[in-house]
Amino acid sequence: MRNIYSNIFKINKKNIFKTVNFLKKKDLAALPTETVYGLAGNAYSDISVKKIYRIKKRPKKNPLIIHYHSLSQIRKDAILNKDFFKLYRKFCPGPLTFILKKKKTSKVSSFATAKLKTIAVRIPRNKVIRQILKLIDFPLAMPSANKSTKVSSVTAQNVVNEFDKTIRIILDGGRSKIGIESTVIDLTLGAKILRPGLILPSNISRILKKKVKIIKNTKNIKSPGQLKKHYSPGIPIKLNQKKIKKNIAFIAFGKKYKTGKNIFNLSYKSDLNEAARNLYRILRTIKNCHYKMIYVSKIPQKGIGIAINDRLNRAAN
Ligand code: TXA
Ligand code: MG
Repeated sequence: MRNIYSNIFKINKKNIFKTVNFLKKKDLAALPTETVYGLAGNAYSDISVKKIYRIKKRPKKNPLIIHYHSLSQIRKDAILNKDFFKLYRKFCPGPLTFILKKKKTSKVSSFATAKLKTIAVRIPRNKVIRQILKLIDFPLAMPSANKSTKVSSVTAQNVVNEFDKTIRIILDGGRSKIGIESTVIDLTLGAKILRPGLILPSNISRILKKKVKIIKNTKNIKSPGQLKKHYSPGIPIKLNQKKIKKNIAFIAFGKKYKTGKNIFNLSYKSDLNEAARNLYRILRTIKNCHYKMIYVSKIPQKGIGIAINDRLNRAAN
């Protein structure tokens, strides 16, 4: 069953199997996860992985996250440590990506890990992606389904807008529940957050019973997700604004902002989780309305607000 966009497919048994066959043949598919939509390919196949880089126009040195159904598969590719097991028990499956040492015997394409000695692994929670991972005997290399440096996709339609017909299967899992990418934690030497997300440093600290470092933008980029220009709608953005101006799109947070043609509210009820869910949708809407400039009101630097501010800061660069 297809809708008017011939490459968007409903979730049903037939389409799940079609997708699985596609992936087995080293083709790519766009799939829903609880964070954002991903562009998936066989992580063991150089051919599939190279297609991902090409279609996304992603720099070769920016490694991909490898997605698994369960622990037994991760063991084949990564060296697991105590901190990993503690966090795994608490947060997996879920929106947490671990950077670990890659096993020498791992079959994961060296292109997927950008020739590094480390590997990023995640066990997603979304039911659709879990069904697919269960039906294949290889993990999925899966970056967010957007062109490099652009805004991630949170609906199947967003993926179409990014890639048009280039991706032949886009499974429609509805709107992404979280709406912002997974937290990335590097466990290769201590515990360092490379990218903030729904799972907070304080949540992780409590489980590991130690302080976790939060890596800010530095010259020594460990995770290219830390690259300053990223998550960009392609329009200049100014943060921490108070005044609403005519012809400038205003991204608001909270009920003190009235509705207006150029006002886009992340959450009237000041709910940061709702704001995260709306962020990329609103950035895309503003872009489609051809605004030349975006102002953003102050967003609380707590909870997932930290991740929202992180993405907005990079988008503003
Ligand atoms: O929520 C998510 O994580 C989504 C969904 C689809 O799972 N995926 C996602 O992938 O956001 P991507 O490629 O857009 O972001 C992956 C981030 C990048 O910042 C990349 O540089 C970093 O993970 N990364 C991957 N492997 C790494 C490694 N070995 N060391 C450091 N950073 C790594
Ligand atoms: Mg991305």
